Amino acid sequence: MRKKLVAGNWKMNTDSKSGVELAKAVATAAGTGHDKVDVLICPPFVYLTTIAQAISGSAVKLGAQNCYFEKPGAFTGETAVSMIKDVGAGYVILGHSERRHVLHESDELINRKMIAVLEGGLVPVFCVGELLSEREGNKTEAVLNTQMEKGLAGISESQLGQVVIAYEPVWAIGTGKTASPEQAEEAHAYIRSWLAKHYSQAAADKMQILYGGSVKPDNAKELMAKPNVDGALVGGASLKAADFVGIIDAAKSL
Ligand code: 13P
Repeated sequence: MRKKLVAGNWKMNTDSKSGVELAKAVATAAGTGHDKVDVLICPPFVYLTTIAQAISGSAVKLGAQNCYFEKPGAFTGETAVSMIKDVGAGYVILGHSERRHVLHESDELINRKMIAVLEGGLVPVFCVGELLSEREGNKTEAVLNTQMEKGLAGISESQLGQVVIAYEPVWAIGTGKTASPEQAEEAHAYIRSWLAKHYSQAAADKMQILYGGSVKPDNAKELMAKPNVDGALVGGASLKAADFVGIIDAAKSL
């Protein structure tokens, strides 16, 4: 059985005080771990070190929200994978819709970052998902196919074993409009069948595929109860300790 992963993407939120408070509350809830649920938080870069200290001794895992694909050098404002590893983070969110659509990251750039993260020994949380217009135009599977084909280009089956995928329909992010459990399941099943076709059934069966987009304590359980939904990537609700803990508890109750 695949372990569930409940991940918090803090985006460009918190400050050092509120971030530490939030991280400590999550660490208390996660304790020393759970055999069926992992917990991950992804604070802004500048707080990674402080948050690493705040969660030390707990089972909470730490991730970054982005990286650059080059090794350390003259790349003003960028952050290398080795630096993320150095401060104790094990995951990097890549391909998030805000980076695709607000920062205009291409599939090719995301792919270079994916390869850098895997070569650096960290776990990419690779986000895919369609716009509302694409869903309404029945293009969801075509969009997912392109994002997967380009984003995972050159990634071997053994490297794929280190990847987490997050399906985040753009129309559900920060809008309060969650995909129904059936819509999420349909997209997740498509992603898993895509992986089976392009890699192997065994690789697809092992893959953790998270759902993201307005996940809250009151809808988390029915989403994560679907057979192909292996956890949640949570934005807004990961900023309130009680809500995020509620989502962790929903995963534990399954
Ligand atoms: P919300 O949970 O705020 O909709 O954000 C989802 C998301 O983008 C997580 O990466």
